[in-house]
Amino acid sequence: MNQMSIHRDGSVEPPTPTPTPTPVLELDRASVVFPSGPPWRRRRVPAMREVTLQVSAGETLGVVGESGSGKTTTAMVALGLRRPTTGVVRFEGASMPRRRRALAGRMQVVLQHPQWSLDPRMRVGRSVAEPLVVAERLARRAANTTSGAINGSSSGSITDAVAVMLEKVGLDASVAKRHPHELSGGQRQRVAIARALITRPRFVVFDEAVSALDVSVQAQILNLVVDVQAEYGFGALFISHDLGAVRYVAHRIAVMRHGCVVETADTETFYRTPEHEYSRQLLEAL
Ligand SMILES: Nc1ncnc2c1ncn2[C@@H]1O[C@H](COP(=O)(O)OP(=O)(O)OP(=O)(O)O)[C@@H](O)[C@H]1O
Ligand SMILES: [Mg+2]
Repeated sequence: MNQMSIHRDGSVEPPTPTPTPTPVLELDRASVVFPSGPPWRRRRVPAMREVTLQVSAGETLGVVGESGSGKTTTAMVALGLRRPTTGVVRFEGASMPRRRRALAGRMQVVLQHPQWSLDPRMRVGRSVAEPLVVAERLARRAANTTSGAINGSSSGSITDAVAVMLEKVGLDASVAKRHPHELSGGQRQRVAIARALITRPRFVVFDEAVSALDVSVQAQILNLVVDVQAEYGFGALFISHDLGAVRYVAHRIAVMRHGCVVETADTETFYRTPEHEYSRQLLEAL
C-alpha cells in the first residue's frame, strides 16, 4: 500500500514507501588514482572519477567506453579486488568486507581469455569444482570456530554439481574429464562460465568475455549469458567495447569516458536517443 490513510480519530498515517530492492552491487562516488611514471616524475593517473552505479539482482548493466576509460578498474573495485582511493562499495547493502574471503563464491568474474581462469594442467571438472570446494572449505572453517563441525559436500555431490553445471552451459558432462587444450575457444568460455556459476554467485562480472571469440560463437555465448542470468538471477556487469554485444545482453548501459560515467540509460533509450555527445559518437562509430 502506498497511500496516505486517515484514521477515525483524525490522525494521519503517512504513506508507506514502496520498498525498493537493495542493489546487489553499488558504487558510490568511487575513485581510483594510480601512480604513474618514474619516481622523480611521479604523476597521478585517475582511472575512476567518482563513479556511481547500481546493479540489481537479475539485472545486467552494460559498461562501454574506449580503451583506458576505466572499465576494468571499475570491475576490480566492484569485485573487491581493488580498494577505491575514495568512495564506497556496497555488496548486498553492506560495505565491502575487509577480507575478501568473506565473499568467496558470492561474486565471480568471467574474463576475456578463459585460459586466464583455467589451469591448463587441471582437468575441466576440477577447475569447475574449485570455487565450490574453496567456498565450502572456508564456510566449514568459519563454522568450526563458532559452533563445531558442519558437513560439507561429499566428493560425489561435487561431481554431480559439476555435471549439472556443465550441462547448463551446453556441454556434455563427459567434458569434465578433458583438459582445456582439448576444447575449442567457445567450449572453454562455456567452462569458464560454469566455473563462475557453480557457487551460485549473486554478482558476476563479464569483462570482454566474448571479445576473443569468432562472431558466430560470440552469439552463442551471449545467448548463454542471457539464459543463465534469467535462470539464476544474479546481478551482472557486462563490460565490452562491442556495443552490439552489450545491446543484446544489457538491461541498462553505463558509458565511461576518462574514468567518469558520462551517461546511464535503459538499453533501448540509449540506443534510440543517446543523450551525451560522446555516446552519440560511440554509436555512430558502430
Ligand atoms: N595497475 C595499474 N597501474 C597504473 N595504471 C593503471 C593500472 N591499471 C589501469 N591503469 C590505467 O588506468 C586507466 C584505466 O584502465 P582500465 O584497464 O580500467 O581501462 P579499460 O576501460 O578496461 O580499457 P580496455 O578497454 O583497454 O580494457 C588507464 O589509463 C590505465 O593505463
Ligand atoms: Mg579492460
